[in-house]
Amino acid sequence: MLSYRHNFHAGNHADVLKHATLTLILSYFQKKQKSFWYIDTHAGVGKYDLTSDQAQKNKEFNQGIGMLYTSQDSPDELTPYINQIKLCNGPNEMRYYPGSPFIANHFIGAQDQLRLFELHPTDFKSLTETLLPSKNINILKQDGLTGLKSCLPPQPRRGITLIDPSYEVTQEYKDVFVAVKDAVKRFQTGTYMIWCPLIDRREPEVLLGNLKSIEVNSSLYVSLSIDKKGSKGMYGSYLYIINPPWTLRDQLSVICPYLLERMGIEGRGSFDLTAT
Ligand SMILES: C[S@@+](CC[C@H](N)C(=O)[O-])C[C@H]1O[C@@H](n2cnc3c(N)ncnc32)[C@H](O)[C@@H]1O
Repeated sequence: MLSYRHNFHAGNHADVLKHATLTLILSYFQKKQKSFWYIDTHAGVGKYDLTSDQAQKNKEFNQGIGMLYTSQDSPDELTPYINQIKLCNGPNEMRYYPGSPFIANHFIGAQDQLRLFELHPTDFKSLTETLLPSKNINILKQDGLTGLKSCLPPQPRRGITLIDPSYEVTQEYKDVFVAVKDAVKRFQTGTYMIWCPLIDRREPEVLLGNLKSIEVNSSLYVSLSIDKKGSKGMYGSYLYIINPPWTLRDQLSVICPYLLERMGIEGRGSFDLTAT
């Protein structure tokens, strides 16, 4: 397939939830003096130009990062995320939006490892230009869910995996479940962050049910909808996080109401935060 281009959606409400959460998880991992791996099964290009024709088509970032970037009242828990956007743009106005590999790259040290999978030939090339491959950054033009197997368990056994497919085909919902189940078997104590859109279809709910059926030590479900359930298009998104940092729930309980207030459409949105 590979017709999906993330540039159309960069910086939208789903990216905000995903990347704000990712920065909190990475901050937690970075604080401990112990090396870790960051694995991104669907990496994207690393950095998105919001002035490009694709981003400008629907200007999705206006209902996302555009609502937050210049705010003076954002909670401290959002600072590491907002800092990434500042890093991406320097002293200039917001033109670029950082993707997950760009963000992860700022949290790794010389002892850490990045494994980035991107199958689209053009996006793969762009990613290798944004983040130069090095001794600890490995960029692979391979299927990310298959490639994940070869990374697990990492040495030492400390790692974060982001699974962020485009769900272009419904089979992907099933493939994600199978891949996560296999990954947890290989590396039970790893942290996994699975992203999924909320759209008016059964698949996101079925995937969530399947993910919850995997036996894990702990998990956290967070969803943010900017519009009523069942609204047209992608009205929200969720993250299912396996083995989240113990601090994450409290941090998200501060961030979610703020994001909802900022990005929610006329009070119709909602959020959910559930730990198991
Ligand atoms: C939602 S985007 C990723 C966004 C990125 N994780 C971020 O947060 O900035 C999904 C990406 O996966 C790529 N892709 C699609 N199928 C893939 C596969 N089987 N393996 C690896 N990458 C794939 C697409 O080309 C696209 O760039």
